[in-house]
Amino acid sequence: MSNAISEIETAGTDETGGLTTSGERAEEIQSEWTDYRLSADPKLSVENLNVYYGDERAIRDVSMDIPENSVTALIGPSGCGKSTFLRSLNRMNDRISSARVEGSVKLDGTEVYGPNTNLVELRKRVGMVFQAPNPFPKPIRDNVAYGPRKHGELNRGLVARLLGRDDSEAERELVERSLKQAALFEEVKDRLDDNALGLSGGQQQRLCIARCLAVDPEVILMDEPASALDPIATAKIEDLIEELAEEYTVVVVTHNMQQAARISDQTAVFLTGGELVEYDDTETIFENPASQRVEDYVTGKFG
Ligand SMILES: Nc1ncnc2c1ncn2[C@@H]1O[C@H](COP(=O)(O)OP(=O)(O)OP(=O)(O)O)[C@@H](O)[C@H]1O
Ligand SMILES: [Mg+2]
Repeated sequence: MSNAISEIETAGTDETGGLTTSGERAEEIQSEWTDYRLSADPKLSVENLNVYYGDERAIRDVSMDIPENSVTALIGPSGCGKSTFLRSLNRMNDRISSARVEGSVKLDGTEVYGPNTNLVELRKRVGMVFQAPNPFPKPIRDNVAYGPRKHGELNRGLVARLLGRDDSEAERELVERSLKQAALFEEVKDRLDDNALGLSGGQQQRLCIARCLAVDPEVILMDEPASALDPIATAKIEDLIEELAEEYTVVVVTHNMQQAARISDQTAVFLTGGELVEYDDTETIFENPASQRVEDYVTGKFG
């Protein structure tokens, strides 16, 4: 367990009775304050999720519904489990051998952890953008076309060519559309065949977003997508996230509370060792949180 977590646990609870600093019992307040009701069916529904690395529990009995076509922000101090939670939504934790997941995650009502889940299909429907831009050392065009080529979705073969839609045309359209959606096209349209590693950090991150969009996902998970960027590049990513939410369900981890307040519709606050402490409309979380611990955190008293 990291030092950050021990410190927060000390700050948030007393050693014996499990009471919070404001004198409340954590289990009691948790059910009340994380019970965020949605008017529509959720896109993702998480129930009693626990994630362990070996014997260490990184996510502690988290339940939350994530609504469609909106931005959900996950905030909380370093080591509280935000990335672990995010990765559990599209089973990226499967790739970590020590990780073990208990509980349920449903995508449109279907169990993500069911035995018949096709992981390739799942990751296509629930895409991910990482903290550090990770373009492939290939031309810009190939980065965007990578997923659709892999999934075999570009029109291929004789019939497509007879209809006048060969691979290259379908690909050109798709690359252009995805780059436009990621607000990058104008900056790169004359150098699509240049290596992606020649782009700036902010451009590389938008390219990674374009690569994610090219396979036509439904949910986009973003783990601190702007933390490595300068303020101007960050502002571009923030604008983009807000636009994407018109069409996609966006779940974004951020360390930056102003950013969460600016771009998200609802905010989930994780604190002590993987506990979801409060989940509500972003405005409520920042202006009138129910939990004293959340108020202390968002006003910068700890964390
Ligand atoms: N691959 C791993 N193996 C073992 N433990 C891990 C692994 N990944 C994360 N952990 C542990 O799980 C806990 C939660 O980590 P996680 O990366 O999810 O936190 P986080 O909230 O994303 O932190 P940060 O804000 O620093 O990115 C931490 O105690 C961390 O050390
Ligand atoms: Mg993280």
